Amino acid sequence: METSSKQLRIGLAGLGNVGSGVYKNLLLNRHILQDRTGAHLQVTRIAVRDPNRKRDVDVSPEMLTTEWRDLIDDPQIDVIVELIGGDDEAFKLITAALKAGKAVVTGNKAVLAKHGKQLIELSEKQNTPLYCEAAVAGGIPIIKAVKEALVGNRIDSIYGIINGTSNYILTRMTKAGISFSEALGEARDKGFAEADPSLDINGWDAGHKAIILGWLSYGRWLKPEEVSVNGIETISSEDVTFADSLGYEIKLLGVIRQNQGDERIEVRVAPSLIPRTHILSSVDGVFNAVAVHGNVVGETLFYGSGAGQDATSSAVISDLADVAENLINEVGCTGFVPHGDYGVALPLEETLSQYYLRLSVVDEPGVLARIANITGENGIGILSVIQPEPKEPSEHIPLVLLLHDATYGTVSTALKAVLALESVESEHTLLRVETLER
Ligand SMILES: NC(=O)c1ccc[n+]([C@@H]2O[C@H](COP(=O)([O-])OP(=O)(O)OC[C@H]3O[C@@H](n4cnc5c(N)ncnc54)[C@H](OP(=O)(O)O)[C@@H]3O)[C@@H](O)[C@H]2O)c1
Repeated sequence: METSSKQLRIGLAGLGNVGSGVYKNLLLNRHILQDRTGAHLQVTRIAVRDPNRKRDVDVSPEMLTTEWRDLIDDPQIDVIVELIGGDDEAFKLITAALKAGKAVVTGNKAVLAKHGKQLIELSEKQNTPLYCEAAVAGGIPIIKAVKEALVGNRIDSIYGIINGTSNYILTRMTKAGISFSEALGEARDKGFAEADPSLDINGWDAGHKAIILGWLSYGRWLKPEEVSVNGIETISSEDVTFADSLGYEIKLLGVIRQNQGDERIEVRVAPSLIPRTHILSSVDGVFNAVAVHGNVVGETLFYGSGAGQDATSSAVISDLADVAENLINEVGCTGFVPHGDYGVALPLEETLSQYYLRLSVVDEPGVLARIANITGENGIGILSVIQPEPKEPSEHIPLVLLLHDATYGTVSTALKAVLALESVESEHTLLRVETLER
């Protein structure tokens, strides 16, 4: 086959942070890509909002349009790369592209978390691939790893640090002893946090990625209401210090796993204590890492840049290389390994873990015994207790308990009773402790 004459004509929707990276790096590595795929990967048209905006990359003005539909209507274009972000417009764009029989590559976790089921069904129906490597953990090839390299495994669990901004903030709180708002300010100054970092801070950016990993591992798109998501905004320096003295670090952790003994699955995101002896605890700053446990392979770990122009464009380009190879080999491919739709969501109340509980209690004898009585009545064991000496005379002092494995429902019931005690203040912190054993 005369492969050198093959061309993959790319319609790029979005020339922002990631879109510019894709454009730049396709040019940078064009010879490598041509050798490896047998095709020349070339951006032929680009959709943007503002054609007059100054760009990081040198693009001829004739390539630009403000109508993404122009890319879809162009019969010369083979594949659409969606990097406009958001969900509604991106949903329309991807739907239109698939209906027009054009392969789609997207890095958009928000649109997949909201409309993934519909989009994948459409991709199957149209026999037109939809790829999304860049949507989870940026440059880390976790989608390919799960769907291809680990295809022979049942996925027991995935634990992921999958939001760089939150990880940066928690790392700085831990290592530099600064407060949440100081660390957020730093992240903004260094360009690690968006002007509006709410999806990073409230956990939903990681929540969207966890939903995608849940689908990839178990074939089921959980609805946002079936997923428990908590962000890092309530984490205090005090909690970071107590976690440290117990031998743990606090990380915003995505948990995607199958319940032992049945097919129910849990997908959740929350700031959690993880043992300092586990390798995930050393993932610092804006880096991401994903630990996947397969029933055949055992433990695996993927580490790298979870965002940023170059790292994310590497993931987009890997999808484009797949599209090119499929085109050359005339393989109809839906861009994912289909799974049976098995597994239902495990209700939050039934999810099991250890817990960290920080209370504020009246400094008087017998308080700990009354609390231990309640946890005992609920069948929850106490693993350790910290009751620091007050630095100065104070009516209330902190009391930190590490609780044994219990369901969230049981812990919530016990906590309600504890908070009803006269000597316990209502202000408290309850975090999960993840042992990351499977
Ligand atoms: N940034 C990262 O590190 C990262 C990592 C992983 C995944 N992602 C995902 O990648 C996607 C893009 O992110 P980004 O950071 O590159 O965003 P961005 O910098 O805001 O860029 C968005 C681009 O889309 C264009 N655009 C927006 N709405 C449009 C519309 N209706 N029609 C045509 N063009 C439109 C904008 O045009 P103008 O330039 O004219 O305004 C801009 O070029 C998002 O889904 C994001 O979640 C990003």
